[in-house]
Amino acid sequence: MGLDVNYIDGQTPLEEDEKESLLIKSITTRGELDEFEQLNIEKAIQWTIGKKWKPLFILSENFIKILHKKMFSDVWSWAGEFRKTNKNIGVDKYEIGIYLKQLLDDSLYWFENQTYSDEEFAIRFKHRIVKIHCFANGNGRHSRLMADIIMSHIFGKPLFNWNRRNLNKKSEARSQYLLAVRIADSGDINPLINFAKSKKG
Ligand SMILES: Nc1ncnc2c1ncn2[C@@H]1O[C@H](COP(=O)(O)OP(=O)(O)OP(=O)(O)O)[C@@H](O)[C@H]1O
Ligand SMILES: [Mg+2]
Repeated sequence: MGLDVNYIDGQTPLEEDEKESLLIKSITTRGELDEFEQLNIEKAIQWTIGKKWKPLFILSENFIKILHKKMFSDVWSWAGEFRKTNKNIGVDKYEIGIYLKQLLDDSLYWFENQTYSDEEFAIRFKHRIVKIHCFANGNGRHSRLMADIIMSHIFGKPLFNWNRRNLNKKSEARSQYLLAVRIADSGDINPLINFAKSKKG
């Protein structure tokens, strides 16, 4: 395999068979991979613009998979499919569907009962879904785009500010992001909400 990928803190390594699923065989470096993935993600963002989707559709397993497929199907053959191996993060591969169903049921309950502010809803959803880690890769970017779609398409609110900063590269912003994720793991969601809203970088 020509792929020589250096992983930065908080990124899930790929299994050998997952690397073989790379659709663009000419990719040899991490930088090239990032660029192709970014182009694919931008196409996915274009696809979301102006869509009139009901909350029940957005908060469904079907949509979760479709969005991942739209984001990564030019690059990875397994885009949109739940992972088939266990990772150092995430639930057991056989329990992804169960945990996701629980999250989707919870989030529909939050929606109907207005349990949280719009931004807290979106960030709690983002944090829970990335912890399940549905896919072999791309879970971080998928979870951040899900949070944006919840804000824009469910609540009619502005997007978060993740895209102003490059979270894919080792940077001060990425360290802050991962710290906020870890604080959310221990029960305080506020630093992650503040990070998502912050325009600084
Ligand atoms: N200790 C942790 N607790 C919770 N979530 C974590 C932890 N470490 C990493 N993560 C999450 O896992 C994500 C990385 O997963 P993955 O590599 O599948 O996604 P990605 O889209 O390729 O990465 P990135 O987030 O860099 O865009 C991070 O964005 C972060 O949200
Ligand atoms: Mg990754």
